Order: sequence, then structure tokens, then C-alpha cells
Amino acid sequence: MFNPRSGWRAESGNGCVPISEVLRYHLAKPFAKRVRGIPCKPGDYLTLQAKIVLLPGDGIGPEVIRQARRVLEVVASQFGHTFEFSEHIIGGIAIDQTGEALPDATTAACRASDAILLGAVGGPKWDDPNAKTRPEAGLLKIRKELGLFANLRPIVTFEELLDSSPLKREIIEGTDILFFRELTGGLYFGPSGLEELPDGQQRAFSTAVYTTSEVERIVRMAAHAALKRRNKLTMVDKANVLEASRLWRRVSARIMQEEFPTISYDVVLVDSMAMHLLSRPTSFDVVVTSNMFGDILTDEASMLPGSLGMLPSASLGSSGPGLYEPIHGSAPDIAGKGIANPLATILAAAMLLRHSLGLEKEAASVEAAVKRVLAAGYRTADLVRRGESSLGTLAITDHVLQSMIG
Ligand code: IPM
Ligand code: MN
Repeated sequence: MFNPRSGWRAESGNGCVPISEVLRYHLAKPFAKRVRGIPCKPGDYLTLQAKIVLLPGDGIGPEVIRQARRVLEVVASQFGHTFEFSEHIIGGIAIDQTGEALPDATTAACRASDAILLGAVGGPKWDDPNAKTRPEAGLLKIRKELGLFANLRPIVTFEELLDSSPLKREIIEGTDILFFRELTGGLYFGPSGLEELPDGQQRAFSTAVYTTSEVERIVRMAAHAALKRRNKLTMVDKANVLEASRLWRRVSARIMQEEFPTISYDVVLVDSMAMHLLSRPTSFDVVVTSNMFGDILTDEASMLPGSLGMLPSASLGSSGPGLYEPIHGSAPDIAGKGIANPLATILAAAMLLRHSLGLEKEAASVEAAVKRVLAAGYRTADLVRRGESSLGTLAITDHVLQSMIG
């Protein structure tokens, strides 16, 4: 699904791996003496050299990114990879320093990287509705500039946290949904404007615009994911009212019929979907939808696993680096207190290992460590029930690292 940028193919990984440089290759089966000109012998390890850009951003962003970086550093040393990190500014901090939410230097560094890990942007300091620019503009711009049209948001309940969810255990148990939210079109990027009317009122508009190919590519990506999962795809729209949704419905039906006839496919209106997510979340496998609907539905779905603090996401294009981030925002109310839950960012780092670096084993080891830490009863403040004690950002990460090292 992901095109290599270096033109190099990994034998033991998940298809093509977009790594800028490969130093040595893991020769589980001795098939070559040299890989990319580098002499190898059986038993050698494939070690990847990858450039990872960190965009800590605002609020709790820097705190959670610092912990995810520690996890990636342990992965690098355990598996023999070399990760070269560089930090750049985005969001409110970038507005303060440069006047722009996404400075050109940040975009350039991201383009030259293999993958990007982002904390969060925004906060009350930059909330003035009359301000020239907003932190969120940086996020929208980087998505657009890097062509990150697919936002993958897995909603998986952790057995250990079932009782932290506001919903009943019997409804949410077993929930495993993968949302594909279209990320560079629709209402977020269509023509918009604000005008003064002669009678003194203002008139504002935002437009949902989609083209055939924008719908095709996200539906195809979601369908490929469904083939590797439970073979079910649900497309969510508002075709009973919106013209743009009617395009989605036609294009999506055609792609599914012509290219993915074996997938069980259905369509659900967005208002019903809001309800079904709470009444029968386990009946969904892969869900694909437009930018705005995906934004809203995934926040709603994030309550199924209990806390926003557990959910990672990946934003991918057809080539180039992917961008990984926690779903939660900058949480300015708890910033600097050392109590933010870093697990969503750590799980985003695991997605980065899997989707941008092709390091499935490494990704799985991070995810397994997080699960073990939860199973052992360790919790951050957002996950505890009344009266239970909690760990801070650093301490829970220490447990994850210890669990990885074994
Ligand atoms: C998200 C966020 C962003 C969005 C904001 C911060 C621009 O809510 O990633 O879901 O609406 O896409
Ligand atoms: Mn959102």
C-alpha cells in the first residue's frame, strides 16, 4: 500500500519500506552477500537508518513527544536501528517565534524525513477569533502540503480498560474499528468566505467539495485494509441531503463492486452512524468517510475505549513520509504538570514503525509493552477510577520501557 521512496524492498518486512538508507540487512535466510552494496553475512541484522522529525507543538505535546522518543530510542538500540531525530516547531509556538503556524523550515524538514511524529497544537493563548493565523492552520497546512489524504484512526478497546469507558462493558467489549477519515478535502478545504451585508450582518460560508479521484483513493485504501482485517467496509455519508455525499456514494459503490467484490460493503448515514457507534460498535470493521464526518465520529468513537489518552492516528499519502500523532489535543489545562497520558503518542510511534518504516516486529513489541503495563494495573490520571492512584507521564513510560527490555 505504501510506495518506497528509496526504491528498496525489505525481504522480511511488510512489503515496501520507505527508508532513506539501509545499512545492514537481517539475513534470516542467507540470500545475498551484499545489500545495496553493503557486505552482509548470514545472521547479520538489517539495520535501518531513518530520519524521524519530531513536532512537539503546544500544551502537553512536548511532554508526550519526549516520552515517545525514549521509546523509539529503546527500539533502536534493541533492534539495532539508527533513528536520527530532529525537532521542529509547529502551531502556537511557531506563531510566537515566526508569525507562521507552519514555517517553511518545518515543512522542508518533514519532506526530507522518513516519518513525522507530532504532539499537539493549540491553546487558549492563540484562541482569539480575530487573530491573523491559528495553530490549527499549521496542522491543516502540513496535511495538505504532504498530501496526507488518509487519516487512519484505530478504535480498539483494551480488555484492561473496559471499566474505564463511560459505556457498558457488554456493548464495547471486542470493539475493533479502523476509521479512514479523508483528510485533505471536503468542508475543511473547500471555498470559504466571510462578507459584510448591506444591512450590517455578516455572511459566512464553507463548502464541501470532493472530486471522483479524491473519493476513489481513500475508498481503495480503506478497502485494502479491510481485506487484511475482517473483510467488511462501511461508508458513511449524508447522501439524503448533500450533493458531495451523493458523489461519495456512487464512486464508492463502483470501486467496491468492480475492484473489491469479496468485501461485505454497506453504507450508513452519518446521523445513524453516530447512534450505531454507541449501540453496536462491534459490528463495524473498517469505516471510511469524509473529512468533517470523520473528525466528529472519531471523537465520539474515542470514548469507546475509555480515554482519548489511548488513541493514536496515522496520516498517510500515496508516497512520502507519514505523520503520526495522538488523537487528543494539547490539553492546556494539564500542560506542564507531568500528568499527561503519553500512551497514545507511544502507540502513534508504534504505528510509525509499522506503516512508515515497515518494522512490524518492533511496532508489535511496543504495543505489547503498553498492554502489559495496563495489565499490571498501572494507570495515568485520565484512566483511573475515583480513589485509585495514578502515575505521571514519566513514570508510566518508565514501566513501558522496563516491559520492553523485559
Ligand atoms: C483532529 C483535530 C483537527 C481537525 C483540528 C485541530 C484542526 O480536531 O485532528 O481531529 O479538525 O482535523
Ligand atoms: Mn478532531
